[in-house]
Amino acid sequence: MKNIEMFTTNDGSIGLYDKSLDEVFHSKYGAKTEAFEKFIEPTLIYQEKPVRILDICYGIGYNTKCALKYFANIQEIDCLEINFELVKKSIEFEYDEKINEIIARNLINQDFIKFYIDDARNSIQKLNKKYDIIFHDGFAPHKQSVLWSEDFVLKIASLMHKDSIYCTYNHSKPVLNALDKTGLAIGKTIKDDKTIGVIASFNSDLIKNKYSEIELGELKTKTAITFKDKNLNLSHSEIIENRKKEIEESSLMTLSQYKKRFSL
Ligand SMILES: C[S@@+](CC[C@H](N)C(=O)[O-])C[C@H]1O[C@@H](n2cnc3c(N)ncnc32)[C@H](O)[C@@H]1O
Repeated sequence: MKNIEMFTTNDGSIGLYDKSLDEVFHSKYGAKTEAFEKFIEPTLIYQEKPVRILDICYGIGYNTKCALKYFANIQEIDCLEINFELVKKSIEFEYDEKINEIIARNLINQDFIKFYIDDARNSIQKLNKKYDIIFHDGFAPHKQSVLWSEDFVLKIASLMHKDSIYCTYNHSKPVLNALDKTGLAIGKTIKDDKTIGVIASFNSDLIKNKYSEIELGELKTKTAITFKDKNLNLSHSEIIENRKKEIEESSLMTLSQYKKRFSL
C-alpha cells in the first residue's frame, strides 16, 4: 500500500499511518478498542434488533468488523471507501477468523455487505434508504475537509430516521456545528472524563451526554464556522481557503470572547 505504514497500537491491533498526509488511520491507544468505544458501544441499543449500517470510510474495516462481532441481527452494511486496495487488504488484518471470512465472501458476492469504491461524496448520492446506524470516520478536517462540510453532513442526516444513531470521533467545533444545523441532537462519547467522540440522533432521548446550552452557544462563534461544499465537489484546499475568507469577514465573536463572557 503506497504511502501507508503499519504500526502496532497499544491494544496489540495493527494501525495504519498515511505518510503523505502525515495522518493516522487509527488511534495509537488501540485500533480495535477505538472501533468499539467510539462506534459500537454508543449504538448498542441496536445489538439485538434488525439493523442497517452505513460505514463511511471503511479503511481496513475495524468498525464494520466490530459491528459484525457485536450485533446479532445485521440486515445490511453499506461501506463507502475511496481506496479499493485497503478494502481488499482488510481481510488480511488479524481479526476474528469468521468475521474476516464474512468480509471476504461479501467482497465477491456483496450479499449483505456492499462496498462503494469512490469518493464518498459521490457514493452517498446513490444511497436513498434510511440507516439505523451511521459511522463517520474520515481523516481529520485540517487534512481532508471534504467529508466534513455542512453539505456532506446534511446528506448524511437525510439518510437517518428518527431513531438512527450517528457516531464519529470528531468533536471539533465546525463538525459539531454542521451536525447541530441539521437539527440532530448531539452528545459526547466519554471515556475517563474526556470526550472521545460524538453521537447524534433526531431522537434526543437516545443521547446520553448531551452538549449543554452554553457549549452549544460556542457553535455560534467564528471557530465553529462550518466547511462549505455546496455541490460536493470542491478540493480540500478550496474548502479551507473559502472558510478562511468567511472567518475573516465574519462579525461573529471569537471563541475566547465567548468564553470570557461566560467566565469559562
Ligand atoms: C481514518 S481512516 C478510516 C479508518 C477505518 N474506519 C478503519 O477501520 O480502518 C479514513 C479513511 O477514509 C478514506 N477516504 C479518504 N478520503 C475519502 C473520500 N473522499 N471518500 C471515501 N473515503 C475516503 C481513506 O482511504 C481512509 O481509509
